[in-house]
Formats: sequence, structure tokens, C-alpha cells
Amino acid sequence: RGSAEVPADMAGRHVVISAGGTREPLDPVRFLGNRSSGKQGYALARTAAARGARVTLVAANTTLPAPAGVDVVPVETAAQLREAVVKAAGDADAVVMAAAVADFRPAVYAPGKIKKRNGADPDPVALVRNPDILAELSTDRPRAGQIVVGFAAETEDALANGRTKLARKRCDLLVVNEVGEHRTFGAEDNEAVVLGADGSETPVPYGPKEALSDTVWDLVALRFP
Ligand code: CTP
Ligand code: CA
Repeated sequence: RGSAEVPADMAGRHVVISAGGTREPLDPVRFLGNRSSGKQGYALARTAAARGARVTLVAANTTLPAPAGVDVVPVETAAQLREAVVKAAGDADAVVMAAAVADFRPAVYAPGKIKKRNGADPDPVALVRNPDILAELSTDRPRAGQIVVGFAAETEDALANGRTKLARKRCDLLVVNEVGEHRTFGAEDNEAVVLGADGSETPVPYGPKEALSDTVWDLVALRFP
């Protein structure tokens, strides 16, 4: 789409997008993290803003420039991301969870830097589960008709796993990527299938993350009450 003819079909809408990847601290200098760059979430933010929406972008550990006109809320951990998204979702028409949220966090946070002990093997790192933010948002919607979208990166049986995940999370749309060597993490381009809770299946050919974003917003806009 040329920017001159972008329709303002999302004017008056508020959308909340999470982007990037959470970091779960072990001690003041170390964390468990993931490779998410945040590019897909930022592309979703830019395209929604271009279509006239008010955008809140909850950004976990990204280094990308803030898109013009977008309200960016920086967070680090899954717990902080959850708090920020739930707060912003109160008056949102749609919530899109593009962030890679850590499934687990260290059970214990060491307030001082963990040190080597002479000759001793390290202690194992015990993990506990983080809450499933997408499932929680989908189950307890603060507004009737709010549209909730998830993302899933799968390495095998992407469609079958995606269908199961969509049902388990109870979201309206799930964007499923098949991940391989060059795909998805940090890449400029993306290929996906968007699954709908209504049984719909929308393939998105390999291309820029903006194109996938516009397809997501088309499918969201169709579902607005
Ligand atoms: N997600 C979330 N909270 C979590 C984990 C994931 O909100 N604690 C969201 C992600 O932002 C994404 C979607 O759930 O939109 C799917 O993430 P994914 O990791 O594919 O799903 P999981 O249920 O964690 O399944 P898996 O065991 O395959 O990692
Ligand atoms: Ca996961």
C-alpha cells in the first residue's frame, strides 16, 4: 500500500500490541531471555497508526526506534508486560500479543550477583511457570467484543499445533509462523498463516512484516462489533 492512499479504517480505535521478548532476571546482572527482535510488533504498531488507530506498544527489551505517534511502554519481565498490557487493554478494541513471553522464570532472584565458589559445581537453576497472558486476556475480556490476537512460532506441524493452541488460548486469531534457519527471529520478512476461531485460514505469502501486519488488521477490523 502506498502511504498516500492508506485508508483511516481504524480511526477511533485503540489497539494494544506487545512486542519484543521478556527477560527474567537471575541476579542483578543476568537473565533468561530469547531472540525476539520486536520487528513484527513494531510493524503492527506502525501499520495500525497509519490506519488511524491510537496505539499502545508494550515493548519488552527492544532497541528499535519508537514509531511516530505511538505510545510506547517499556517493560522487561513477563510480570511487567502482563501488568502493562492488562492496564492498557481496559479500553482497547483489540489486543495483539506479538511478544515472545518467557514461559518460565527463575524460582529465586538473587539480590546480589551469583559468585563462583572455589571448585564447587554450580547449583541448578530452578524455574517456575509464568502466567499465560494471552489466555488470561482472551478469557477475561474487559470489553465485550474486544478482539484478541496471538502469535505462535512452530517448528513442526504448524497448522495442527496452531489450531490446538488457538483453542487452548481462546483467542480470536492466531498468527502461525513456521520457524526455520532464516525465518522469523530477527528477519525482515515473514511468512505465516492466520487462523481464526471461526475456522478461517488466511495464508500470508513470504514478504515484509508490514504486509503481514496489514492482513492482521484487515482480519481484526472485519471482526469489530
Ligand atoms: N504468551 C503469553 N504468555 C505466556 C506465553 C505466551 O501471553 N506466558 C503468548 C505469546 O505472546 C503468543 C502466544 O501466547 O502470542 C503463543 O505463544 P507460544 O509460546 O507459541 O505458546 P505457548 O502456550 O507458550 O506454547 P509453547 O509450549 O509451544 O511455547
Ligand atoms: Ca511459549
